Amino acid sequence: MPSPALALARLGARGRATILVMSLFGVAAGLASCGTQGIQLSKSDPNYHGAVLFRDHCSGCHTLAVVGAEGSATSIKDRLKTNGPNFNVRKETVEQVLYAIRNGGFSGAIMPENIVVGPEAKAVAEFLAKYSGLQAPKVPSVEIKLSAK
Ligand code: HEC
Repeated sequence: MPSPALALARLGARGRATILVMSLFGVAAGLASCGTQGIQLSKSDPNYHGAVLFRDHCSGCHTLAVVGAEGSATSIKDRLKTNGPNFNVRKETVEQVLYAIRNGGFSGAIMPENIVVGPEAKAVAEFLAKYSGLQAPKVPSVEIKLSAK
């Protein structure tokens, strides 16, 4: 039996893209059927709206346990170009998230720009700044602030 990773590798880029699209539909269908299941915030939480927006717009490519998102790669062998950072371990600030949303990630190469804008972008950023990095390994590090200008 070939491993799933090997099978994916044999499919080539086109096959993998098809699987990605199909699994995105799968995620959408799954979400539609189970409503708000997976979001661990209470509806009265000030960040609840941001969590729903994140689940709806970002979970296809990023992982974040608090909303049940599993879009990041789990192994280097079978990762896709669209797999974004895992926010269970990657800590983001509000400014960093707003920058990534406007710019299309930090590189501007893969993540679409302006998936959410205005107050919705702010809600996602505030939610993510609070709930990202909860499983980050505790190592001494320097807080890097992006300039607003
Ligand atoms: C189509 C896939 C895709 C979607 C949808 C997506 N992202 Fe990304 N995102 C990526 C990829 C790939 C990267 C890494 C490359 C880069 O930074 O340019 C990234 C990078 C980021 C970064 C920078 C993280 C870091 O520390 O390097 C942030 C923050 C981010 N995304 C937030 C979001 C938010 C918030 C949403 C939803 C509004 C979202 N992303 C939707 C693919 C996606």
